[in-house]
Amino acid sequence: MTFSLAGKAALVTGGSSGIGRAIALRFREAGAQVLIVDRTPTADDFPFVRADVSDETEVANAFDEAVDRLGKLDIAVNNAGIQPLGVGFDSVTGDLLNRTFGVNVNGVAFGIKHAARVLTDGGRVLNTASFVGMIGTPGGAAYSTSKAAVIHLTRLGAIELAIRRITVNAISPGTIRTPAVTGIPDNPEIPFIEKRTPLGRLGEPEEVAALAQFLASDEAAYITGQNIAIDGGLTAGWTDYDLVLPANVREGKWIDEP
Ligand SMILES: NC(=O)c1ccc[n+]([C@@H]2O[C@H](COP(=O)([O-])OP(=O)(O)OC[C@H]3O[C@@H](n4cnc5c(N)ncnc54)[C@H](O)[C@@H]3O)[C@@H](O)[C@H]2O)c1
Repeated sequence: MTFSLAGKAALVTGGSSGIGRAIALRFREAGAQVLIVDRTPTADDFPFVRADVSDETEVANAFDEAVDRLGKLDIAVNNAGIQPLGVGFDSVTGDLLNRTFGVNVNGVAFGIKHAARVLTDGGRVLNTASFVGMIGTPGGAAYSTSKAAVIHLTRLGAIELAIRRITVNAISPGTIRTPAVTGIPDNPEIPFIEKRTPLGRLGEPEEVAALAQFLASDEAAYITGQNIAIDGGLTAGWTDYDLVLPANVREGKWIDEP
């Protein structure tokens, strides 16, 4: 089977909801054993370890328990994250920065560190970043910078772990239909994204999971240190642009022609 994960053992942080849950379900469908690490229990029948990814001791224990319960670990998905959007520099605080970086940055750094400690050679690390870590968007003083850091942690992990053929890649979703997005009443992001995204809609968690399956598979062995956007074209550029054709161009007279 193409992109099979048969015989692989995987850990997914933030696997109780949204993108992480879709990844866990897809990995299992592709043949992997999957253990979920989350601060909230899973409603699905996966082996589960409760941990807060901002706490290194809890992350270390979760990776050890994954190896104990699954027999080994081949794939680590550092996906857990919090999404405080709509915070500009006028309202950014030390507490918000510390909490956001604690989960989104420290959590991924601990995930790479402990994946490196227990992962089988030739294994896979996937980190969930975001399109807002790639382009500037308003109100992202804490969140967007944390995701830019995830993209760079990915590169650093890739070069350190390459010697063991462990690949480290980031996935940068656009706006995806998960509880973090749909749970916000009258979320203005939804109509905005539907209008601004070239493909004209939000993404689905299952679409992100399909990319994760590919990156986790043997077929992706030569891809490492990359950040792959799955965003309906959002970071490719804008689609609305009322530029009129200049008269000289319309008449076939180019500016550099005499
Ligand atoms: N939904 C989107 O539009 C979108 C876009 C780009 C990036 N992302 C990123 O994707 C990832 C998943 O987001 P989602 O939309 O599925 O969110 P979600 O809220 O549906 O799920 C996040 C999961 O992470 C868990 N979690 C949060 N903090 C944790 C912690 N400290 N320790 C352990 N578990 C913790 C939550 O309990 C939850 O189960 C996040 O990193 C998010 O930043 C989401």
